[in-house]
Amino acid sequence: MNYRIAVLPGDGIGAEVVPQALRVLDAVAAKAGITFEYTYALIGGAAIDATGHPLPPETLELCRNSDAVLLGAIGGPKWDTLPSHLRPEVAALLPLRKELGLYANIRPCHLFPALADASTLKREVLEGVDMVVIRELTGGLYFGEKKRETLEDGSERAVDTLVYSTPEVERIVRLACETAKNRRGQVCSVDKANVLESSRLWRETALKVAEAYPEITMSHMYVDNAAMQLVRNPRQFDVLVTENMFGDILTDQASMLSGSLGMLASASIGGEVALYEPAHGSAPDIAGQNKANPLATILSVAMMLEYSFKRVEEARAIEAAVDRVLNQGYRTGDIMEAGKTLVNTVEMTDCVINALA
Ligand code: NAI
Ligand code: MG
Repeated sequence: MNYRIAVLPGDGIGAEVVPQALRVLDAVAAKAGITFEYTYALIGGAAIDATGHPLPPETLELCRNSDAVLLGAIGGPKWDTLPSHLRPEVAALLPLRKELGLYANIRPCHLFPALADASTLKREVLEGVDMVVIRELTGGLYFGEKKRETLEDGSERAVDTLVYSTPEVERIVRLACETAKNRRGQVCSVDKANVLESSRLWRETALKVAEAYPEITMSHMYVDNAAMQLVRNPRQFDVLVTENMFGDILTDQASMLSGSLGMLASASIGGEVALYEPAHGSAPDIAGQNKANPLATILSVAMMLEYSFKRVEEARAIEAAVDRVLNQGYRTGDIMEAGKTLVNTVEMTDCVINALA
């Protein structure tokens, strides 16, 4: 079997971790008798520098014609001051998601037992954490109408619009229920229905969707409480589903339950081609130093094997290799603790590849 993968390394550490994750894929492919065909394309700041635009049409076209997309991360200080229609996240990431119809971002958040002391949170709180956060990805504030206006007194006013329609909520909540069916059967829908009209529609719709899933227990939580519960007692969550911006914030927060943002993988699905990327950004503070933790991206290709190619056995093998390497005491800087062995990006990947053998 041959799979065509669009590879978009992007900027900063994105360009460092993506090639490492491909080395892991190749190691798996050799064993499983599959081949991966990689086609590289530009995105983000790298694409601005080369072509003047962060999402060149040929990049989008390549993604559409591939079996899956692997993205590193985009953005950085060099492009932060560009007008918003050119900025990497607004002008590349958001349209890419929209164009590919990727309305759901799936972020499993599970603690590798060896990292129980790596987080700033206590071991008692973290042990046994195993949840999936499902974030709506193509609606809400990030996509609603935006405008700026100058008022009579010369001051400025800015408007972002939070819009959701019933079908948008239905499909994402359904996905959460389907996901929970194969897990502990619990869905927590997060909203702010006490103040937001869009959240009231979200909750009403979630309740209706749940009627078709008698085997699922659905609960509802306000987002401020959810933020608190995530650090107070994260084990209570099985599947958490929420709108775009709440999900953006809660998933970064939840990443600390896995020890580091550098551990958190993600899949964006919903269209014909799915996109896989680490949850982190381009980390300009450590870019170019071979210091980045490649595990989030390596775990993202495991998700690709599972979701896009139905290669569950190979996906589990990668996760088991990561678990083994952490148990052996190898750590990148972001998860380093006393008594462990500090390794760089490439060495960490070598360890994972060796552990696959
Ligand atoms: P960030 O995720 O890049 O970094 C936050 C902190 O986590 C930094 O201290 C960084 O060193 C650390 N970190 C992140 N990933 C790591 C890894 N794999 N290993 C070790 N340490 C890691 O978020 P930040 O600093 O807010 O944004 C930096 C740039 O990335 C900005 O231009 C932002 O717009 C962009 N960004 C892009 C995203 C994407 O492409 N999907 C997502 C988030 C931010
Ligand atoms: Mg984010």
